Amino acid sequence: MSGPSRVERLPRITGYDAVRAAGRNFERFSSLHQGDEDVRDYRQLPLEADPPLHSALRAFLVPFFSKGSLAPFQQGIEADARELVAPLKAGELEMVRGVGLPLVVRTIARLLDRPNDIEEWVSWGPSVWGDHDGRRDGAALLTFLERAVSEGAAGTGGRLFNLLANTPIAGVVLTRDQQIGVGSLLLAGGRDTVMNLISGIAWMIAAHSMHIAALRGDLAVRTTFIEETLRLTTPLGLMERIDRGVSGGDPEQSPHVGLDFASANHDSTVFTCPAELRLDRPATSPHIAFGIGPHACVGAPLARIEAHAVLNELLAVAPSGWSTTECDAQFRSVDGVEVPASFQRLVITAR
Ligand code: HEM
Repeated sequence: MSGPSRVERLPRITGYDAVRAAGRNFERFSSLHQGDEDVRDYRQLPLEADPPLHSALRAFLVPFFSKGSLAPFQQGIEADARELVAPLKAGELEMVRGVGLPLVVRTIARLLDRPNDIEEWVSWGPSVWGDHDGRRDGAALLTFLERAVSEGAAGTGGRLFNLLANTPIAGVVLTRDQQIGVGSLLLAGGRDTVMNLISGIAWMIAAHSMHIAALRGDLAVRTTFIEETLRLTTPLGLMERIDRGVSGGDPEQSPHVGLDFASANHDSTVFTCPAELRLDRPATSPHIAFGIGPHACVGAPLARIEAHAVLNELLAVAPSGWSTTECDAQFRSVDGVEVPASFQRLVITAR
């Protein structure tokens, strides 16, 4: 069993107002660092950059996630969710490798226009860093990215890698390492986060079966439910920043801190009874599960499409709800209540 990661051991900024303020203040709280040093030696971009490179890269990526760009994928995502959730009709469904993993991999393949890679990406397991006897390993992802970047240069890498190789960003074409950094984040960012959200939805309904009638009858309630699950579970709960101090000190010399999105989402001054899943909260939740400020999640609209697709199918196949029959998850304690933050395995059984 591994201990806390490096970012988990850092001093933390906690509470809604402080996290929001720090997340917005990129001049003081810089993202110019490289994480996951045990498995990679390049920066994931635009996440691990500050303006002006960050703004230029983000402006390149945002159009891929606009409503208009995602609309053509929606039907396919819904069809995948239907196929993957169907086994629940026969009684039992495993949510992590049975639904979440194939759904996110197929979705990213659509987005990157690389359908032939689906099998390889599934073979890595729930995390892009693999899971070889409990060891993290970045080799499979890097080998793939090297190939995709070369194909992008040759014009055969699919829509996104082709554009990455050939589009000047802030006036210059990205280096090979920078292209790898963007590809890495797209493959990693929308993978275990979305998988944990999808399993979180199934787990939350099993734990709150009194909400099933409301969820069955009202699409707006489903939106509130998904936002509440995002708030409660906060799939990406902690992110690193360099605190350059009020005078904007040298990042090399400045202390690193953790931006605790999970604590913000459980702040009782903003969310009454924060440990409770409540469907009477405002439809537009002020939660910051997708971050805040210039680095706020680019992929949030896609994650929401995937979450709705799975929730709709679960309710269609098992309208009376389901219970959890097997659960291997890491829990986070909130006001004395245990909330699942990440899942290794979750089996549900229709009622
Ligand atoms: C439930 C699912 C997801 C959650 C909870 C989540 C959460 C987050 C959070 C908290 C951040 C901000 C990190 C920071 O401030 O340091 C972020 C950034 C990002 N996310 Fe997501 N994410 C999800 C899904 C996705 C998907 C589906 C994609 C794309 C396929 C994606 C791509 C990104 C990218 C590119 C950034 C960096 C944005 C920037 O630096 O400007 N995410 N995400």
